[in-house]
Amino acid sequence: MNDLAPLLTPEGRALLDDVRGTAPADELAVATRLRREHPAELVSAALGQARLRQRAVAKFGAEDAERMFFTPNGVEQSTRASVAAYRAGRLKSLGVTSVADLCCGIGGDAIALARAGIRVLAVDRDPLTAAAARANADALGLAGLIDVREADVTEVDTASYDAVFVDPARRGGRGRIFDPEAYSPPLSWAVRAALRAPHAALKVAPGIPHEAVPAQAEAEWISDGGDVKEAVLWFGGTAPGGVRATLLPGPRTLPGRGLPDPEVRSVGRYLYEPDGAVIRAHLVAEVAQEVEGGLVDATIAYVTSDALHTSPYATAYEITDRLPFNVKKLKALLREREVGILTVKKRGSAVEPEELRRKALPKPQGPNAVTVFLTRVAGAPTMLLGHPA
Ligand SMILES: C[S@@+](CC[C@H](N)C(=O)[O-])C[C@H]1O[C@@H](n2cnc3c(N)ncnc32)[C@H](O)[C@@H]1O
Repeated sequence: MNDLAPLLTPEGRALLDDVRGTAPADELAVATRLRREHPAELVSAALGQARLRQRAVAKFGAEDAERMFFTPNGVEQSTRASVAAYRAGRLKSLGVTSVADLCCGIGGDAIALARAGIRVLAVDRDPLTAAAARANADALGLAGLIDVREADVTEVDTASYDAVFVDPARRGGRGRIFDPEAYSPPLSWAVRAALRAPHAALKVAPGIPHEAVPAQAEAEWISDGGDVKEAVLWFGGTAPGGVRATLLPGPRTLPGRGLPDPEVRSVGRYLYEPDGAVIRAHLVAEVAQEVEGGLVDATIAYVTSDALHTSPYATAYEITDRLPFNVKKLKALLREREVGILTVKKRGSAVEPEELRRKALPKPQGPNAVTVFLTRVAGAPTMLLGHPA
């Protein structure tokens, strides 16, 4: 079905209520029962929507997801609520009261902006996606703040808005697109739109090369629960050329201080694994300074120190053993230490963690837990063993 309208009728809504939470194994039986009283096409649309809602719970939480409307791409491409709320809060703190959300998708960002009390013009050129955004604004009681328009963003006048937000489509036919000029619309268009507005935020893939960040922008890498979610280029009222890493929940923000690369030093008592947003933002030096540490290797983002510091930006491990990469030796050591749980982490190693875990610890050898870091130390493949400090 490529039209949401039938699901928005009283019959469609009743069906959606009826199929809520249907397990995949029960779909056939539920469909057979409902088709006795409802058109087959409407029944499959409701079941399809129920499936999308279940997928969306991870991003939007059950309470919202079960009221919202999705398309398959719309769920996939939407911003998770935590990240959207953080960004909306930052726009609000810049004094923004109205935003043109260009490329609104099913409305993940528009919803968070409206909930922050910001008036939103939400634009998407795909009719079904725009219909979902409109249905979502209605379903969540935000229609008074969100004006959804089905249009090409390159043809929309945004002059009367305090800010533009652009979240271009990043996925092509074959997986993710990393070339920002292959975004739809291209990043260069979004940057021009940003420079015309008093404030702007552009959402880009976290893999964006630092060289591709325009000089006028501040770049912020955001992680949630330790997973890097996105980078945002901020224009207007933020520090041009600045870099920061923000960790959610929190939020905790580490601003870049332009430090030179940390020194390489010998492995100390502690190893610090910086958060992915810190690494992407190239702020490992800021963390190293905070924990009085240096790098284990010039090319690896593991920080080592003799001192134990608690930092929100890195997880600290106490290192108990260091040995050259050797599976047999690791296996013997795990037996000797009566290890039952082995966590494998790696940076700068091509070894498959799961395979190593199977080989080194085919069955539990006792009650203890160990973390092994596969990495390079002074260029040599090395295993560092330890546990969270
Ligand atoms: C990454 S999604 C936006 C997700 C949204 N921020 C959310 O949280 O739900 C990108 C959207 O851009 C739309 N799009 C791509 N090029 C466009 C254009 N030139 N004009 C309008 N919409 C466009 C696509 O239809 C898609 O829905």
